[in-house]
Amino acid sequence: MAAKITVNPNGPFKVEGEFEVFDAQGKQFHLGGKSVVFLCRCGQSSKMPFCDGTHKSCGFVSPSDAGDVMQA
Ligand code: FES
Repeated sequence: MAAKITVNPNGPFKVEGEFEVFDAQGKQFHLGGKSVVFLCRCGQSSKMPFCDGTHKSCGFVSPSDAGDVMQA
């Protein structure tokens, strides 16, 4: 399955399917065979770029409806 990214309301990106994650230098994050990861959107995780659940306590609010995207 191609990668599917779900924008969770007030929370992380859920990434599932076939994907790899790299840092800006091209070094790969080792995911231990996981086919689902959650990437932080709030900027407060202690395990960046992965979500550690801090978004629940830091007051992060962000819409996630696809209809909120600006039109090109
Ligand atoms: S989105 Fe979960 S810790 Fe940032």
